[in-house]
Amino acid sequence: MTGFTVWFTGLSGSGKSTIAELLYHELKARGLKTEILDGDVVRQNLSKGLGFSKEDRDTNIRRIAFVAHLLTRNGVATICCPISPYRQTRDEARALIGDFVEVYVYATVEEIAANRDPKGLYRKALAGEITGFTGVDDPYEVPENPELVLDTLVETPEESLRKVLAKLRELGYIEDDAVLVRGERVHSGLTDLRVTEAGTVRQEG
Ligand code: ADX
Repeated sequence: MTGFTVWFTGLSGSGKSTIAELLYHELKARGLKTEILDGDVVRQNLSKGLGFSKEDRDTNIRRIAFVAHLLTRNGVATICCPISPYRQTRDEARALIGDFVEVYVYATVEEIAANRDPKGLYRKALAGEITGFTGVDDPYEVPENPELVLDTLVETPEESLRKVLAKLRELGYIEDDAVLVRGERVHSGLTDLRVTEAGTVRQEG
């Protein structure tokens, strides 16, 4: 079994974690060993104590890339979704991991600030209450040659998911790009709870 890493990059609030979670369930449903390395979650443990200077962000990305490399070479379908704002550090991750599918999750600051922003961070950043916020007063370097671009201004998460599955199939990492997992998500944030067709909540392992 060939492992691979799907690396979602994009602004905070662009939809990386949401699409990653949908993808996780799809890969699980195919019987693949699957793991998610999410920016927010990684920063609570593997990267605890790191801040948001360029140096700390690069350290964070290198740690994630290192773990993704170990998982990928052991046949795990690995999903990473840190902002990863710097092109050079993403390219380092690509070089280390090898089987690397870079997915740029596009959204504008205007859209996220107006209609998303669950943590209220954009509001604070735009008001100058926090500084060094990606996309507001800190850089985000758009990928030059990603395997895939997802435009979340026009696509639903499910449509984005279908594009990722189609790309993974095209690259030979999965055989079937049909959406296998149905049911309404009851809670985002990397839980494994889903409503089954019978309407009961089921925990997936
Ligand atoms: S990265 O730049 O090192 O890749 P990462 O994805 O791990 O970032 O963490 C981003 C998350 O940290 C955001 O979703 C947001 O909740 C939080 N955060 C706090 N401060 C900042 C900041 N200055 N810039 C971006 N995100 C921030």
